[in-house]
Amino acid sequence: MENIHPVFDQILGRSDKEQMLRQRSCALWFTGLSGSGKTTLARHVEVELAKRGVLTQVLDGDNIRTGINSNLGFSEDDRAENIRRIAEVTKLFVQCGVVTLNCFISPTREMREMARGIIGNEDFVEVFVDTSLAECEDRDVKGLYKKARAGEIPHFTGIHAPFENPLHPDVHVMTEKKSIEACVNDVLSYVLLRVVSPHDEHHDGL
Ligand code: ADX
Repeated sequence: MENIHPVFDQILGRSDKEQMLRQRSCALWFTGLSGSGKTTLARHVEVELAKRGVLTQVLDGDNIRTGINSNLGFSEDDRAENIRRIAEVTKLFVQCGVVTLNCFISPTREMREMARGIIGNEDFVEVFVDTSLAECEDRDVKGLYKKARAGEIPHFTGIHAPFENPLHPDVHVMTEKKSIEACVNDVLSYVLLRVVSPHDEHHDGL
């Protein structure tokens, strides 16, 4: 490391890019069990942000794990490395002015705090997608809970591996008590204040 000298943004900095895009960037970190609805919610939020001219990038477990993190499994060490790399990638997007929507189980407080540390506290918005294990297992969209119960998937979150609820999420989405539209609005009302300036004519009328 001693002969490596990273130089970032010498000419065009983050604020120049944010001005170009007419938005302020941040990372929306959706955490919750497998099948809790993280990616569904993030996709809906992304559409609503796009309507208001906000450029976003969704990053989710199933995609990242087939690409940049294809060599990682689900042991605690591999999950931590998964989150570390994702947080570093997220930081690059945020420096570029893009709002990221991160959908990863990120099961422990320690992992989420690591992500916060890498991305930066002021740019990290924790969104708890709160769906109970019973409900996720009932939905079992990908059929994984059934397999996990049958002993076919080791370290499955909620069954053989822990999920620690966030203690102080910025947005707490109670998916079992609300419609999807209401859940999207919970995130949107928090996020719009952060990413869009109300006086920006680019976003007016949208
Ligand atoms: S994390 O724990 O490292 O944050 P990540 O969000 O990337 O997990 O990946 C979760 C997705 O991987 C799940 O939605 C599910 O489709 C799949 N998966 C495969 N094996 C497991 C497992 N043992 N535990 C949880 N999810 C798993």
